[in-house]
Amino acid sequence: RIVYVNGDYLPEGEAKVSIFDRGFLMADGVYEVTTVLDGKLIDFDGHFTRLERSLNELDIANPMDRDQWLEVHRQLVAQNAVDQGMVYLQVTRGAPGDRDFIFPDPDTTAPTVVLFTQSNPALVDSPKARRGMKVVTIDDIRWGRRDIKTVQLLYPSMGKMMAIKQGADDAWMVQDGAITEGTSNNAYIIKDGKIVTRALSNDILHGITRAAVLRFAREAQMQVEERNFTVDEAKAADEAFVTSASAFVMPVVSIDGAELGGGVPGPLATRLREIYIEESR
Ligand code: PDD
Repeated sequence: RIVYVNGDYLPEGEAKVSIFDRGFLMADGVYEVTTVLDGKLIDFDGHFTRLERSLNELDIANPMDRDQWLEVHRQLVAQNAVDQGMVYLQVTRGAPGDRDFIFPDPDTTAPTVVLFTQSNPALVDSPKARRGMKVVTIDDIRWGRRDIKTVQLLYPSMGKMMAIKQGADDAWMVQDGAITEGTSNNAYIIKDGKIVTRALSNDILHGITRAAVLRFAREAQMQVEERNFTVDEAKAADEAFVTSASAFVMPVVSIDGAELGGGVPGPLATRLREIYIEESR
């Protein structure tokens, strides 16, 4: 695989980043995941805009403009012949000479930029989408700026492991009784034909897939409510699903062992997945 590091396209085994990189030492960096479908990028501009916002919030200078980012994405997709999969990008505050809590001087320490691709031939024809996902709920003990897409992914990773240990696929996180989001996706329930998902705030990541799916749902005359919903409300829902760049729309069929819609993917979630894939192609 050919990867991109700080201006160079290299075989993955030759790519190097300093041990002093603040991404490595302090999780001081941000990332994006852009899906590739039929060799084309989905929602590149949405991901670029969110990247700019994340960098801005952390006072990291954007090392490239939109067209340069797009060029690197396209190069990697082409060089690695990705048909279905994703482009991962990460920008960290860079690697000053020493470990220090104080941010380094941006004039002497440039951000580190890394991009690579991952292929996933089962993106569209996904066995998990056919059977639906089981989720368990866990406390949301992450920091308070979940709207910034940082590389601090230890708790989401632990959450997924907690779910797997219980025989489930993923975890939904809970704050003050209400679901915030999944470990790496936005969370939705459907009751009496109404789609409910938490409103945007610093409590959740502003999903690019979320924005697209809510737009498609409204265009298809489905009702959408952006508000908090509780764990009890979720367990009593008709359907549930999650969205993310890598999962598209993924039906949820059980929450803490309580089955939804007889334990099979619901009709509206299934329809939304189809619409999302059709519209993105
Ligand atoms: N995760 N919420 C969280 C906490 C996420 O990590 C993600 C994305 C989303 C969905 O955002 P989007 O629709 O823009 O992908 C919501 C990516 C895919 C990941 O970490 O792999």
